[in-house]
Amino acid sequence: MPSNNLSHPTMQNFSNKPMLEIITLLKNTLESLACKEIIEFQVLNPDLETSTYAGNAVTLNNEEYIYRGYKSWVDLAQLLHCRMLTPRIISEHFVSLRFEKLNADISFHTSIVDKEEKYGTESIFSEIHKNEEPAFVTYYLQALQNAGISKRKRILNLGVNSGDEFELIQKITGNFDDLELVGIDFCPSAINAAKEKFKEHKNIAFYTHDINDLASLELGEFDLIISIGTLQSSNLDFNPLFMSIVQNHLKKEGAMILGFPNCRWVDGEMIYGARVKNYPFSELGLIYKDVIFCKKYLQQKKYRVTVTGKDYIFLTATSIRKE
Ligand SMILES: C[S@@+](CC[C@H](N)C(=O)[O-])C[C@H]1O[C@@H](n2cnc3c(N)ncnc32)[C@H](O)[C@@H]1O
Repeated sequence: MPSNNLSHPTMQNFSNKPMLEIITLLKNTLESLACKEIIEFQVLNPDLETSTYAGNAVTLNNEEYIYRGYKSWVDLAQLLHCRMLTPRIISEHFVSLRFEKLNADISFHTSIVDKEEKYGTESIFSEIHKNEEPAFVTYYLQALQNAGISKRKRILNLGVNSGDEFELIQKITGNFDDLELVGIDFCPSAINAAKEKFKEHKNIAFYTHDINDLASLELGEFDLIISIGTLQSSNLDFNPLFMSIVQNHLKKEGAMILGFPNCRWVDGEMIYGARVKNYPFSELGLIYKDVIFCKKYLQQKKYRVTVTGKDYIFLTATSIRKE
């Protein structure tokens, strides 16, 4: 791998520079780098201190340095669209950090295959395993628990893809085979993969079907409806679709979990922050608008609503009616 020390021949030393200066220096250097090239620089060893917030002064041999923990450096790598590589120990007090510039072209967001197979088994999307991302699975698990998963019997998943979201339910419920699960997606290869994954489980039905035409499936009502990363798709009309799902398929005592992506998947990394057309940076207005629309609507219908999460925003609704 090519490595680019910020100032040759000695490595640039950031151990006493303010963050704003570091960001400016790194941004300028990254602009001239090709994808996958690496920037390397020296910082104070974060393990030298504990219970210390970024920016505090650390004095070593009468010299002052600025403390920052690994969380700050990993955040910075992400914000600069880089991957942080394993740090190298330089000396007792210093480590070198290496940021690898991501290749923005390696992303399903830019894929131009036909719309049904954009998320199919041959797509870049199929390489994403959200249940292995702590920032996803922690909040999804919390949402399932807040939705009272242990008492839900009929569960619908809209945009189920290859069934990862059912896998977590399978792991955390002791009575998985007593549940009745329905998964819908218009991607044939993803639904086939889901059917294969759960072929031993006769209590799950997967349909290759367009969510725009849910009525023709005559699914009835559910105790729990889950839809993650799907209802905001450009081929769906968010507000009327959401209202019709609640009116036609959610039991009055039921619960709902909606997941709104607030990240992009780029070159192996889940990068925080939703992107919308016409902005070259992350912009969260659309997420806020849609989340608040759903929250208000569900509250009017007598559901208690919580909004949680980070890279995925989870809206969880449970009925306030007595069950
Ligand atoms: C971003 S993926 C999310 C999949 C899964 N819930 C997840 O979070 O990994 C969106 C899914 O919705 C499906 N989808 C999009 N529009 C659809 C529609 N009109 N009818 C059925 N499925 C649709 C896609 O095929 C895809 O599997």
